[in-house]
Amino acid sequence: MARFLGIAAALVATGAYAITPEQLLSAPRRSTATPNPSGDIALFSVTEYSFENQTRAAAWQLLDLKTGAITDSGLSASEVDEVVWLPGTDTGILYINGTNEDVPGGVTLWIGDIKKPSESKLVASLDAPFTGLRVANTSSGNIHFLVNALAYENGTAYNAELAPKPRHSGRLYENIYTRHWDTWLTKQRYAVFGGSLLANASYGLAGTGLRNLLQGIEYNVTKPESPVQPFGGSTDYDISPDGSTVAFLSKATHLNKAEFTASYIYVGPFDGSKVPVAFNGPESEASAGGHKGASGNPKFSPDGSKLSYFQLDGDYYESDRAKLYVVDISTGVGGVSVSNWKPLAPNFDRSVSGINWAPDSKSLFVTAEDYAIVRAFNIPVASEASFVPERLTNVTSVTDIGVLPDSSLLVSATSIWTSRDFYVLKADGTQNALFSATGVDAQLAGLGSHTYEEFFYTGSLGIELNALIIKPSNFVENKTYPLAYIIHGGPQGSNANAWSTRWNPQLWADQGYVVVEPNPSGSTGFGQNLTDSIQANWGSYPYEDIVLGWEYIKENLSFVDTDNGILAGASYGGYMTNWIQGHALGREFKAIVTHDGVFNTEAIYGTEELWFVNHDFNGTIYEEGSTYKKWNPFNHIANFSTPQFVVHNTLDYRLPESDGLALFNVLQSKGIPSRFLNFPDENHQVFGVENALFWNTEIFNWINHYSGVGGALDDEAIGV
Ligand SMILES: *[C@@H]1O[C@H](CO)[C@@H](O)[C@H](O)[C@H]1NC(C)=O
Ligand SMILES: *[C@@H]1O[C@H](CO)[C@@H](O)[C@H](O)[C@H]1NC(C)=O
Ligand SMILES: *[C@@H]1O[C@H](CO)[C@@H](O)[C@H](O)[C@H]1NC(C)=O
Ligand SMILES: *[C@@H]1O[C@H](CO)[C@@H](O)[C@H](O)[C@H]1NC(C)=O
Ligand SMILES: *[C@@H]1O[C@H](CO)[C@@H](O)[C@H](O)[C@H]1NC(C)=O
Ligand SMILES: *[C@@H]1O[C@H](CO)[C@@H](O)[C@H](O)[C@H]1NC(C)=O
Ligand SMILES: *[C@@H]1O[C@H](CO)[C@@H](O)[C@H](O)[C@H]1NC(C)=O
Ligand SMILES: *[C@@H]1O[C@H](CO)[C@@H](O)[C@H](O)[C@H]1NC(C)=O
Ligand SMILES: *[C@@H]1O[C@H](CO)[C@@H](O)[C@H](O)[C@H]1NC(C)=O
Ligand SMILES: *[C@@H]1O[C@H](CO)[C@@H](O)[C@H](O)[C@H]1NC(C)=O
Ligand SMILES: *[C@@H]1O[C@H](CO)[C@@H](O)[C@H](O)[C@H]1NC(C)=O
Ligand SMILES: *[C@@H]1O[C@H](CO)[C@@H](O)[C@H](O)[C@H]1NC(C)=O
Repeated sequence: MARFLGIAAALVATGAYAITPEQLLSAPRRSTATPNPSGDIALFSVTEYSFENQTRAAAWQLLDLKTGAITDSGLSASEVDEVVWLPGTDTGILYINGTNEDVPGGVTLWIGDIKKPSESKLVASLDAPFTGLRVANTSSGNIHFLVNALAYENGTAYNAELAPKPRHSGRLYENIYTRHWDTWLTKQRYAVFGGSLLANASYGLAGTGLRNLLQGIEYNVTKPESPVQPFGGSTDYDISPDGSTVAFLSKATHLNKAEFTASYIYVGPFDGSKVPVAFNGPESEASAGGHKGASGNPKFSPDGSKLSYFQLDGDYYESDRAKLYVVDISTGVGGVSVSNWKPLAPNFDRSVSGINWAPDSKSLFVTAEDYAIVRAFNIPVASEASFVPERLTNVTSVTDIGVLPDSSLLVSATSIWTSRDFYVLKADGTQNALFSATGVDAQLAGLGSHTYEEFFYTGSLGIELNALIIKPSNFVENKTYPLAYIIHGGPQGSNANAWSTRWNPQLWADQGYVVVEPNPSGSTGFGQNLTDSIQANWGSYPYEDIVLGWEYIKENLSFVDTDNGILAGASYGGYMTNWIQGHALGREFKAIVTHDGVFNTEAIYGTEELWFVNHDFNGTIYEEGSTYKKWNPFNHIANFSTPQFVVHNTLDYRLPESDGLALFNVLQSKGIPSRFLNFPDENHQVFGVENALFWNTEIFNWINHYSGVGGALDDEAIGV
């Protein structure tokens, strides 16, 4: 196998690929861009992996928001993980340096100017691996900042390098939350810490050091924790612009963590003089109104008078509609008071994710998934309940927006044909394109929107369903290409017009397929009814929708060869491949790829997030009427006969690897051609770049062999 094909070589040698696995994985990866307070430049990071040298390079770069010119900031990205702008300045920065010469395992805080990064000054030595910097510049001139870290039960930040080595490796539990995602729970929990840098002391850390802002919160079932693991970060908390008030998220302390999703927003004074209190928890107006689920993204308005956030309704459903709310905040001698709780655009049938205030504090720019792309919307605080926001963006998916002083938006976006676009969207709707990775990155040369289409068809519930089509880059009219039918996970998720370094549909198409990605029942972004319809119906509506989609392709897409097609999916998508393997549609594919998918739903209580299965199968596993037995692919193994490639990783605690092993053992003992791929160091997803190259290479080797696009199977597998 030619593992290290150069970029030019791959294009010239085959004339076929716009993109190969090596190119996808070695292309620069850029973060979203954060504009400075005056809105003339923005900062982003870029990392790049070299297969040739097995090294990674990283840099902090500056984007000129007028010209789109990109320059290197000179700040070392290998030493600096996080940078924030200092409010009240044009180019002042505060950053976390990942090393600390005095405290092993600690980090340091530095103050500087992005124009002169070499003159930065160390202002604080932090004795644990703090991350998630947020900052306020106060009227006294002192800087107030928030960071987070794991903390001991007594509140002190936890530093693994300084912690005493335990004498045994036993883990003893007395409640149902033993591990989550890829991590076993310990006695330490994450907490938000506040610190002050004193202007009169060259921004040295105030003698009070860092305060754990979660200390003193009462609980009877679950300890408070912020950020909420495993994906929470600095968007789980905020500091008011005047530095006086903090807001953070914690899961409900009176419910257990495995069976409930509920989380609340706590507010309190930055100085720690009062214990923070949740304002949307039990007995609140929000709760009385039926809004009892997970909260997120608390954001103070620029004038400090309001706080906005989202919350879901159901306390054990993670894919309810995330609705936008705003409350008034005032800080006085009695502490922080919260009033005038108000839902914004409550009838908007989309889930809000990103939340950004307009500079005048009168409206919010939010992002929400809508018809297979993430778009930006504007919602005025004074809007009526019936208000339906207009789409501000189109075509590509918005990953983040930065609001500029004149209310223009700096949009960071992606799509199937670009790993990163930056553009400015002005208030009048005009766009100023600043940067597109495709056209700059040699690895992405040849990608474009010409390979991308969508179609709509009527699903099993009579609802119009969306599906994406991605053609090979060298698509030739009147030729046919085998179908690669890819089912998304979730199941409350979507196939969207967005970039991915894990499942990149253009990469699959460029092997010589037409990729079709359906968005069946359960999908998000098409209204809550479609999302909710999958409850208690894992194997019915979605399967029927996928069959109808396949029939549409067979009848209507003349350039697709459905006789030599392949089927693939991860997680719930992997469940669906296993369900299809046991049903009639399974006979229509030459090969199947299942990545960390559910095989035996009656063994699914080996997972950690029990709320998810309790919701989706409509009850606990021991309740009459729940549907674990009904929708079990295991019931249909008598029909399994299509060659199947099974991936299952060891650190997948969401769905333990025993499920993938059981599937492989069934396939092997039935004599069905099959391979099993395991990564001992990966979780539900594959992130290591060398691992991802092997993943793509071996999956393509498998599907290409069975679809007829490629030759013989390679000899990489471990045999007898
Ligand atoms: C790999 O290292 C060699 C020697 O230092 C250098 O010339 C080459 O540019 C590097 N390649 C990449 C892709 O970084
Ligand atoms: C804080 O903001 C003021 C203006 O409001 C500015 O003069 C000052 O330099 C800022 N502080 C820092 C440390 O950047
Ligand atoms: C980061 O800290 C180290 C010392 O721990 C220092 O040598 C290095 O210059 C610092 N880098 C930056 C960019 O602050
Ligand atoms: C908290 O507990 C840790 C671990 O036992 C200990 O190292 C630390 O000194 C304690 N902190 C306080 C303030 O007691
Ligand atoms: C700086 O001001 C603080 C009060 O904000 C005071 O406690 C401290 O002593 C002052 N430090 C210096 C070096 O003046
Ligand atoms: C915990 O406290 C809540 C009230 O906040 C109460 O409803 C619940 O029954 C308590 N749970 C336990 C296990 O004590
Ligand atoms: C989005 O773009 C498509 C295709 O370019 C166009 O047909 C459609 O009208 C646009 N929609 C909006 C809201 O701009
Ligand atoms: C494709 O087929 C159609 C109908 O047979 C024909 O009219 C057209 O010229 C063909 N296109 C190409 C590029 O061969
Ligand atoms: C969702 O379903 C409910 C109940 O069937 C129906 O009343 C409502 O109109 C539907 N909503 C939309 C947006 O289709
Ligand atoms: C093919 O497309 C037509 C027109 O959109 C549609 O009416 C028909 O139902 C499609 N065929 C299938 C099998 O879905
Ligand atoms: C879930 O179960 C309840 C009874 O426990 C039943 O009333 C309800 O219809 C079920 N939901 C679905 C979607 O089947
Ligand atoms: C096997 O598939 C056939 C139809 O394709 C179906 O009638 C039969 O019930 C299936 N058997 C099992 C065990 O699922």
